[in-house]
Parts: sequence; C-alpha cells; structure tokens
Amino acid sequence: MEKDEYTYEDYQETFNWLKRKTTLQPKVAVICGSGLGGLADKLTQPEVFYYKDIPNFPRSTVEGHAGCLVFGYLNGQSCVMMQGRFHMYEGYSLKKVTFPVRVFKLLGVHTLIVTNAAGGLNPNFEVGDIMLIRDHINLPGFSGQNPLRGPNEERFGTRFPAMSDAYDRNLRCLARETWRQMDFKKRELQEGTYVMLAGPNFETVAECRLLQRLGADAVGMSTVPEVIVARHCGLRVFGFSLITNKVIMDYDSLETANHQEVLETGINAAHKLEKFIFRLMEHVSKPEGIPH
Ligand code: HPA
Repeated sequence: MEKDEYTYEDYQETFNWLKRKTTLQPKVAVICGSGLGGLADKLTQPEVFYYKDIPNFPRSTVEGHAGCLVFGYLNGQSCVMMQGRFHMYEGYSLKKVTFPVRVFKLLGVHTLIVTNAAGGLNPNFEVGDIMLIRDHINLPGFSGQNPLRGPNEERFGTRFPAMSDAYDRNLRCLARETWRQMDFKKRELQEGTYVMLAGPNFETVAECRLLQRLGADAVGMSTVPEVIVARHCGLRVFGFSLITNKVIMDYDSLETANHQEVLETGINAAHKLEKFIFRLMEHVSKPEGIPH
C-alpha cells in the first residue's frame, strides 16, 4: 500500500536519492501540463529519472503525461522538469499530488513555473491563447480539500501562508515584456484567473456559467495544489495556461469538450509556449524579489 501522507524524512529520502544520482543543482523547476512535456526535450545534458524508480514518488497514469523527472539546462539555466504531473482525479491525495514540490525546495530550487491545459471561460479567449496566471480560485479548497490540511510542517513553512501574492508580479511583467520582444501576436498572451475543479469530468453548462460569474477566466483540473505548497515553502511561482478549448456556455451547442481535443491543441500551441519559456529563462534564473 502506497502512502497518502509523508513525513519530513520522506521528502529528505527522495532528495538524498536524487542528490546521489545527479550533480546538477536546479534553481528552477517546471511542471509540464498536458501536451506540454515537449519543453523537457529542449533541456541540454538531460538526466532522466522515471517516477516509478524514484523513492516515494507517485506514478502518472494519464495519457499525454510521460512520467519522468528531467534535470538539465534550458537556455543555460539549471532546471528540473516534471514531464507529467499528478492529479487529484487520479485518486491521489493532495499530499501526493504536491510531493515533488517540497523535494524541489530541498534541492535548492527558488522558482517554480507551472503550466497546464485549460478551458477558456473568458469570452475574449481563443483556442491556442496563452494565459499568464494572475490568480487562482481553489474550488476544492472550499470544501476542505487543501494540500496543507493536517499538522503543519514548520520546516517547510508557516501554518497560515498568504496566497494573495501567489503569482509573482515581477515575473508576470517580464513575461509580458518578453512576449512583446518576440514575434508573437499581442492578443494571444492573455492574463487572468485560473479555477481548479477536481475533475475528471468536464464541466456542465451551468457550472461554466457559475465559474464565469465567480470571476474565473480559465478552468482546469490541476496546478492549484502545487502552487499552494510552493508558496507555503517560499518558492517564487509563476505559470501559464494553454487555452485548449472554449468551454460550452450554451445549451444549443452541439460541441462537447474532450481530452483528444485538449491534447491536439496542446501539441500545436505548445511549441509557442515552449519557445516563450525558453526565452523567459534569462529572467527567471535571477532570484531577485524572492520572498523569505
Ligand atoms: N475543463 C477542465 N479542464 C480542462 C479543460 C476544460 O474545459 N480543458 C483542458 N483542461
């Protein structure tokens, strides 16, 4: 039986195992969302560890998620990337979903970049747009599903962490500036609020209407637990949603959301996001403005 809860020593055990296997000291961690794992293929001098071989690591079960941790250099910066993440809908506890984030902290990472595929709720969004995440709504958290629930591990962070500044303002600014300098269409870079639902089903029309009224711009089934745990342990965070579909807001619509569409759009638009993150590494590598 695999564990659902971890002790500090479990995180340390995994850290020690990785430390023995790699000489690389990553400063930036990237969690690659559905269809976005191609970024890890851009790493130079890659060192690959399959989740199944890493002590205490859960295994990824979803199509489109490779299931390995890749160390290497992206645009000259030392990075570790998760090619495939863990989702609540797979049945993992949120402690499991977020396990790698605390290992990153122990490895000396200062910045976490999160990426995901998401449905567009904002009517101005188009399929293929990239949304810089400004804020999130932790909907599972409203019913007590929070990765920090339970005894607080002070060695990682405080009992009541702030979340109002979760997504680093300086990096968002730099990201907008970098986008302008690259030859991408201005309107394809959006900024907004990501709402997490547990999934695995896509949303009903009534749910989409509700989420829109709540002020969310994009909806998905991931990211928020990892961000909460990252902020708890003082990592600087920023992230992107790739808008892979527009959610269904209309009862007369003949369309339905499906995972294949999400993956296909992911593959097409991911290229753009990968180039963008590659360029951003020049700024992300510098730890200025990091809290703590
Ligand atoms: N809803 C939830 N999660 C998603 C969607 C969606 O429409 N698209 C990609 N991930």
